[in-house]
Amino acid sequence: MDREEFAKRRKTLMRMVGEDGIAILPSAPVRTRSRDVQYRFRQDSDFYYLTGFAEPDSVAVLVPGGKNGEYVLFCREHNKEKEQWDGYRAGPGGAISQFGADDAFPIDDLDDILPGMLETRNRVYYSMGAYSAFDHRLTEWVKSLKNRETSGIHTPHEFVALDHVLHDMRLYKSKAELTTMRKAAKIAVKAHKRAMANIEPGMFEYEVEAEYIHEFRRHDATISYAPIVGTGPNACTLHYVDNKAELKDGQLILVDAGCEYDYYASDITRTMPVGGSFSPEQRAIYEIVLEAQLAAIEKTVCGNHWNDPHDAAVRVITLGLKKLGLLHGSPARLIRDKAYYDFFMHRTGHWIGMDVHDVGDYKVGHEWRLLESGMVTTVEPGIYIPDTRKVPAKWRNIGVRIEDDVAVTSAGPDVLSKGLAKEPDDIEKLMAS
Ligand code: GLY
Ligand code: MN
Ligand code: MN
Repeated sequence: MDREEFAKRRKTLMRMVGEDGIAILPSAPVRTRSRDVQYRFRQDSDFYYLTGFAEPDSVAVLVPGGKNGEYVLFCREHNKEKEQWDGYRAGPGGAISQFGADDAFPIDDLDDILPGMLETRNRVYYSMGAYSAFDHRLTEWVKSLKNRETSGIHTPHEFVALDHVLHDMRLYKSKAELTTMRKAAKIAVKAHKRAMANIEPGMFEYEVEAEYIHEFRRHDATISYAPIVGTGPNACTLHYVDNKAELKDGQLILVDAGCEYDYYASDITRTMPVGGSFSPEQRAIYEIVLEAQLAAIEKTVCGNHWNDPHDAAVRVITLGLKKLGLLHGSPARLIRDKAYYDFFMHRTGHWIGMDVHDVGDYKVGHEWRLLESGMVTTVEPGIYIPDTRKVPAKWRNIGVRIEDDVAVTSAGPDVLSKGLAKEPDDIEKLMAS
């Protein structure tokens, strides 16, 4: 993403913060996996959204109209020995020359400098609760100013939830963001195609997972969440991530796998017959889910509210299950009583962006939010029939979900993950290739 994009975001936020306010954002911490081994570092999404700076131990401060610069970055200093082990650091100099900071300081000077910056402002924009150690430091800085009020020191007196403001910005994706999200979707589409062409009875779920990881890394992407690869009964467990079972002929396999490319996520699910062709029962369930997904996508348009796609999916699924004899009663009553919930127990979608379950409110006050251009949501209805359900045996252990990533645009729904088979005949063709 180009540097201008980050500068534009900071400007927009600073307009909202105003000259009486200051915004403070800490970077994500390095997290321990086990003993002395760390997870690969992933920057905090809010921090990255405003800075494009991917180093830990950093703090970004926005001081609109500040005499000594509006954007100040605290970061690690150059250190030959540490860089020998852990790699390049931009240092305060690089923060200015490469990342557009107006001024930059070593992170170790934060305690000396930040209270003085706080002192010039009345309102502090900060996301409380994300990093408790930093919450504590901020409290201590404010306390230290308060303790010196008798010497004429000024203390800010208003604290505003920065995430509330920032997450609304993040909900509306710019052209550059949509381009990156389209790329993340494209890579995941390639991975699903690769897997579909390779799946066969006798493989193990982890081998299928490996096809995805291979394709993601080939394109400089990583997983955006642990891939769900469930064959047979495992397809009915929504967050199944063990991925250890053997694929058997006659089963369905559900794969929910997406990647993160340049800090933007994709999230795609396809369900396939392990042996290459759907049984009549599998196909019947699959066709209901597909019809529900297409109906929900059709409702993913400007001016509809957030729940419209879900309502459409619920309606198709309820009618479909009734037609198959898996639900009994009047459709209106089945919908009102949520009878479908035994088979379809999750929502039809969620915002997606820098995070796979992205930020942004789903309601404004008590009302569902209206869909607007630039919002991106997944559309992912499903039907799951674990073998504990009291239905004829032929329906059991069928789990189907179909998931795509859809941008709301003035020209209608734009399926970012398009180009990946989902008609049952097309899936069968791809699996035979
Ligand atoms: N992959 C998680 C989800 O679909 O929400
Ligand atoms: Mn998913
Ligand atoms: Mn999803």
